[in-house]
Amino acid sequence: MSHYSRHIRQWRPTEGKSPMGWMNVKIDKPKKMGFYTIEEIKEHKDDNWMLLGDKVYDLTKYLEYHPGGTKILQKFCGRDGTKAFARQHRWVNYTHLLEKCLIGFFNNPQDSDSGSETEKKIKK
Ligand code: HEM
Repeated sequence: MSHYSRHIRQWRPTEGKSPMGWMNVKIDKPKKMGFYTIEEIKEHKDDNWMLLGDKVYDLTKYLEYHPGGTKILQKFCGRDGTKAFARQHRWVNYTHLLEKCLIGFFNNPQDSDSGSETEKKIKK
């Protein structure tokens, strides 16, 4: 063993739960994409919803395929996992990996035009 390899933690998936296994998992698309506020996402913590960027995912099927483990993912369910995700592995292409988990988009009232400077000027 070289003095380098001793420091490498090698992750091994449980049988069938490899990234290749994940590619073969089929998930029915939701009939309609939603538009969810952070409060609504919070209410679905136990349904494993997570906000990543501007996208809302139901991670139920992905949990056991996560190379970093189920627990850490669940810790961020019902929340915005964007920063934790980026801290850990900003090189991971989650939009591609989680395409079949997508259930909707972030509804951020702060983005709404009603509060914008332009709107305020118009109202004046
Ligand atoms: C929900 C979307 C997520 C996806 C698709 C995802 C995917 C992955 C992938 C592909 C890896 C292995 C590749 C690598 O480490 O470079 C990984 C590892 C890891 N992930 Fe995630 N991840 C997600 C969210 C998170 C979150 C929110 C955390 C919280 C900090 C996290 C923590 C970790 C950790 C600690 C590892 C390292 C495991 C190890 O090497 O022992 N992941 N994840």
